[in-house]
Amino acid sequence: IAAFFAPKVLDGHQLLITAGPTFEAIDPVRGITNLSSGKMGFAIAAAAKAAGAEVTLVAGPVHLPTPRGVQRINVQSARQMLEAVQSHVAHASIFIATAAVADWRPASFNDQKIKKDGSGDVPALAFVENPDILATVAQSERAQRGDLYCVGFAAESHDLLAHATAKRVRKGVPLLVGNIGPATFGQDDNALLLVDAHGHRELPRASKAALGVQLVQELARRLPALQA
Ligand code: CTP
Ligand code: CA
Repeated sequence: IAAFFAPKVLDGHQLLITAGPTFEAIDPVRGITNLSSGKMGFAIAAAAKAAGAEVTLVAGPVHLPTPRGVQRINVQSARQMLEAVQSHVAHASIFIATAAVADWRPASFNDQKIKKDGSGDVPALAFVENPDILATVAQSERAQRGDLYCVGFAAESHDLLAHATAKRVRKGVPLLVGNIGPATFGQDDNALLLVDAHGHRELPRASKAALGVQLVQELARRLPALQA
């Protein structure tokens, strides 16, 4: 895909991207997670690298090969993902959040496997809210100053344009990308809806690899010029 990029539209940029689901442990053998293959995020990472960016990919538990030349950090939980993001965001000029972060985690972790006691009783699980990684980064000083361009993703089951428009404002990001359903999870193709302050446009159904390339081009057009 490197041939798609002449000139390299992300030359000089450092891109940090999250991908895949997170896994929130209940006990040593169980947990809760989200449905996410990580394919869209990995495709964007590959396209950004081919476009000349230095790319760091923070990945939840997925079985995907690391795109060539991309630095990959594997994490499990939302809190680990936030920590990895925070320790790599300082020099980034672009942050893209494609991860399907679990909104809640079990309030406590059982060191030992929870056993059935034979009575038919089920364990009561309590949850607490996870940190919002995208909102945290978008509220940082560098993002607010315009030195870090933040992009969010949204998977919605209905009213995509309305939800994506509202989510862009709520998260405080210049660009929000919606997955046009239904059921693109795990598939090799997708269709995207780009929502920014000026309006929206659709990237029609294509392979995730091709959409990654198109998204990188759309992104490059929206970026503020790099400071020398
Ligand atoms: N996101 C994040 N950290 C979270 C939750 C979401 O970084 N704890 C990011 C996702 O990676 C995505 C964007 O925020 O880029 C939107 O995620 P989404 O789940 O659609 O939004 P929520 O704010 O969690 O709202 P809801 O799930 O209720 O629609
Ligand atoms: Ca969510």
